[in-house]
Parts: sequence; C-alpha cells; structure tokens
Amino acid sequence: MGSWTRMVVLLPFFTSTFCTPLINELEPGKDWPTRGSVKQPYNQTDDVQDPIEASTTTSELVNETPSSGKDELEDITIIARAAEGNAKVDYSGAQLWKVSTEKNGVRVILGRLKRRNLIATWAGNQTYVDVLIKPNAVANVTRVFSRENISYDIIIDDLQKRINEENPPLDENEIELQNRRGHRMTWKQYHRLQDIHEFLDYLATTYPKIVSVNTIGKSYEGRDLKVLRISNGNPSNKAIFIDGGIHAREWISPATVTFFINQIAENFAEESEDFKGIDWYFLPVVNPDGYEYTHLVDRLWRKNRKPAYAGRACFGTDLNRNFGYRWGGKGASSNPCSEIYRGSRAFSEPESRALSEFIKTSAANFSAYLTYHSYGQYLLYPWGYDNAVPPDHKDLDVVGKNIAEAIQKTGGSKYSVGSSSGLLYPASGGSDDWVKAQGVKYTFTVELSDTGRYGFILPTTNIEPVARESLAGLRILASYVSKL
Ligand SMILES: *[C@@H]1O[C@H](CO)[C@@H](O)[C@H](O)[C@H]1NC(C)=O
Ligand SMILES: *[C@@H]1O[C@H](CO)[C@@H](O)[C@H](O)[C@H]1NC(C)=O
Ligand SMILES: *[C@@H]1O[C@H](CO)[C@@H](O)[C@H](O)[C@H]1NC(C)=O
Ligand SMILES: *[C@@H]1O[C@H](CO)[C@@H](O)[C@H](O)[C@H]1NC(C)=O
Ligand SMILES: *[C@@H]1O[C@H](CO)[C@@H](O)[C@H](O)[C@H]1NC(C)=O
Ligand SMILES: [Zn+2]
Repeated sequence: MGSWTRMVVLLPFFTSTFCTPLINELEPGKDWPTRGSVKQPYNQTDDVQDPIEASTTTSELVNETPSSGKDELEDITIIARAAEGNAKVDYSGAQLWKVSTEKNGVRVILGRLKRRNLIATWAGNQTYVDVLIKPNAVANVTRVFSRENISYDIIIDDLQKRINEENPPLDENEIELQNRRGHRMTWKQYHRLQDIHEFLDYLATTYPKIVSVNTIGKSYEGRDLKVLRISNGNPSNKAIFIDGGIHAREWISPATVTFFINQIAENFAEESEDFKGIDWYFLPVVNPDGYEYTHLVDRLWRKNRKPAYAGRACFGTDLNRNFGYRWGGKGASSNPCSEIYRGSRAFSEPESRALSEFIKTSAANFSAYLTYHSYGQYLLYPWGYDNAVPPDHKDLDVVGKNIAEAIQKTGGSKYSVGSSSGLLYPASGGSDDWVKAQGVKYTFTVELSDTGRYGFILPTTNIEPVARESLAGLRILASYVSKL
C-alpha cells in the first residue's frame, strides 16, 4: 500500500484561520482507515469475458486482431522506447473533421482509413464523429471522401498551430503571484505533474487539520499516484471519490479536478454544511506517465505508457478499458496498438489496480464517484459495457439532469445526460462500471467541454469557466449525497 506522506511542517498563519470547532485534528494514521476485513460486494466471478462482438460503433473503428494476451508476457522487458526518440510528435498539416456517420457505409470506410493509419477518431456519438486526419494524409482522405460522397466540415485546419497556441506561458503578474503563493498551480495554464503534486502537498502542509495526501501506488514508470483527502473527520460522513486524467491528453480534466480541490480546501470553513459533511477524495492524475508524455512528446497520447509484448512496437493500455467489471467486452480492443487496448487482463495496469485497491480497501463510505474526461459535454451513468442500466438508473438520471441544469445555469454549457452505452456506444472495462458494481450509488463519467470546436486542444482561457460551472454541478451532487 502507499506510503504515508503527510507533511508535518505547519504554517501557523494559515492554520490559525481554520481552527473552527467543527474541524478535528485527526491522529496521523487514523484518518485514512482501511476496511481490510470487511467483505466487499465485488463479485470476482463476474469477471468473465464476453466475446468481442462486431458492432458499428465509433470505438470499433480500430484494427482488431485476436488477443494473445497471456500473463507470462506481462513482465518481458520491451524494446522500442529508445527507438521512439525524444523529438516531439509534429501535427503540422493534420486536420480535424466533423463527419456525419448517418449515411450507410461511412463507418466502414472510416475503419478502413484507420487501419491504413491515415486517420484517428476523437470523440463521437451515434450520428457524428470527429476525425483526425493525420499529417500528409489530407489529400488522400479528401479523395476517398469525395469519391464516396461523404460530407464533412473542417473544424481545425492545422492541428499543430492549435497545439502551439493552446498553453501559452503565464504573464509576469501570474508568475509573481505564483512565487508568493507557495505553489505554482494556476487555472490559467495546463500544468506539469510536478506543479500539481506540489500543490497537493502544499495544501496538506497548510491545512493539516482537514487536508492530507496519501500516495496510493505508483505508475508503471514509477510516478506517485497521489490522493488528496479533505475531511472534517466526522466518522459518519459520506464520501465522494473524484478522479481525473485517466486519459492523458484530456488536459481539462486534471485542471478541473484541481480547481475543485483548491476551492474546497481554501474555503472549507465557509462552505455549505453539505460540503463540509463529506469526506472528499481526489486523484487528479490517474495516468501520470501518459500525462507527462503528452507534455513532452505527443500531445495526443491517450493511454498509459506500459509497453505491450516483446516484439511489438506498441505502448500503453487504455486504463478506462482495464477495469474488472465485464472486462473484455464490447468497445474495447485486444490489439495492443489500438487506442482502446484493454490490457492483457483486468487490472493488468498498475494505475487502474492501485485505484481499485484503494476504493476496495478504504473504510470511506463512498456514495458517489465522478471521473472527469473530455470531451463532448456528457454526464454518463452506467452501464458502459452494454446497452443496459442498473436498477437505480432513474435516481442517477434525476441527479444527472439536476447537475446538468446547474452547469447550464452557471456557465451556459449544455450537457446531455444518459447511460454511456445508450447515449454514446458500449465501452467495457470502464472505471465507472467497476465502481458502480462495488455498490457506489452516484457514479458518473463526466465528459467536459467542448463539443468539438477545439476538442482535446482546449485553450487555457476555458479552464476557469469549465471548472466553475462543473463546481456548480458538484454542489448538486453533494446535496443528494448528504440526503442519502
Ligand atoms: C456473481 O456472479 C455469479 C456468476 O456470474 C452470478 O451468478 C451471481 O448472481 C453474482 N452475484 C452477485 C451478487 O452479483
Ligand atoms: C452528436 O454530435 C453532433 C455534433 O457534435 C451534435 O450536433 C448532436 O447533438 C450530438 N447528438 C447527441 C445525441 O448528443
Ligand atoms: C496517398 O496515395 C498515393 C497514391 O495512391 C500513395 O502513393 C501514397 O502513399 C498515399 N499517401 C499516404 C500517406 O498514404
Ligand atoms: C456520388 O454522387 C454522384 C453524383 O451525385 C453519383 O453519380 C455517384 O454514383 C455517387 N457515388 C457514390 C459512391 O455514392
Ligand atoms: C453508508 O452510506 C449509506 C448511504 O449511502 C448508508 O445507508 C449506510 O448506512 C452507510 N454506512 C455506514 C457504515 O456508515
Ligand atoms: Zn477520456
């Protein structure tokens, strides 16, 4: 299990502002109890694999090859890292197109172009898909589309230009503030992992009575998986778990989750009774290796960075296809080169395993789980693995719609609410399905902004508006959780 990393240095000025009688100083080691001996609802025998079924969904537009996924291949050290070199992947000339998939045969053609490595698909729903046309492929794909009479809109005509403009350096005032604040985190920029981790540690140091940080495991490349907890220590509190950054390139997600953390930690005393009566757990970057890789090498990397098998040049598992409820079913690939590779078995990846172990062994009474992704503006509840819903889906739908309403009232963004398989397409092995199967009632995958204008390359000016309206949604969730 993770090591205890609570800092002992106190900053008297800050802590003195937080000595309200509501807040108990918890003895170190007592505030993150595990429930080891408690029997979990998790049903191991549910981990059977469904056969991979042919379907016409977006996520199926990948080259499927039969899995040779066997445990003994797990530990073989892999080549290819050096071969990849250190140069940044250049998306000059790459474009983003919005393509209607309602016409017969369009998905088949997209699948073919994908196998020829000319395109990749980003977000999509049942009628549209955003298609990345790779550099140098624009002429050929244009020819195919025109031959097949497929219509499309060019949304981004030079992706690299967008990438270059996305995350500009902070201005001098901000840098000055950064230096005075004690941490470097802002919501005016997408920050590197180190800034995020130092920010979490800073809060634990500054507000030791309510904030603590625990490393719940390590990523494949050895980075910490840091969970921050905010709690007034009341043993009857319900708990909410929030994570971000399962998919590396969805930068708005860790930015939003850290915004929540900042808001709740810095203003705890003034927060609503609903907020104070909840034990908050945050894992802002589930996939730190992938996240760093998107900053250093490939802005559009999605998976983690664990190599697949020897002799294959492909890296990474889609962590959101690696969770152990109905693992291996629809909308996940057995091909390690696929963007939606499910891994060699359920929880084959250290990141998904650490997260699941933490949730299973924590004594916290988790009543809600939110996992933040981008993009598309959806509030999705289980199930993801197939077009089915849990028995309490009406409760989830009501809460989801109330959250969506609060978001729209606050910032104007319109979120669609529904089950992930029903509203989008089946995708098995998601974290939300697994957490729901643990008995956590309000489980949602949130697809943040936008709806495809910038896609993953959302300019930094969007961070605060997106995070602020999302926080309004979180307040609604907290009110439902405290009513349980
Ligand atoms: C556990 O899985 C078995 C086999 O799939 C199934 O028969 C049983 O109903 C499941 N139990 C629960 C509580 O889901
Ligand atoms: C699907 O995506 C298109 C284009 O982004 C959008 O206009 C449409 O409303 C979406 N459909 C649903 C059901 O969300
Ligand atoms: C585009 O098509 C031409 C002619 O069919 C072919 O020679 C070329 O390799 C193709 N380019 C790509 C990037 O596939
Ligand atoms: C595309 O449209 C043209 C003219 O509308 C038609 O002649 C042609 O057969 C169509 N091609 C396909 C593949 O549908
Ligand atoms: C956990 O919360 C649920 C409501 O979500 C409640 O029914 C249950 O009694 C709580 N369990 C404990 C041990 O507090
Ligand atoms: Zn995602």
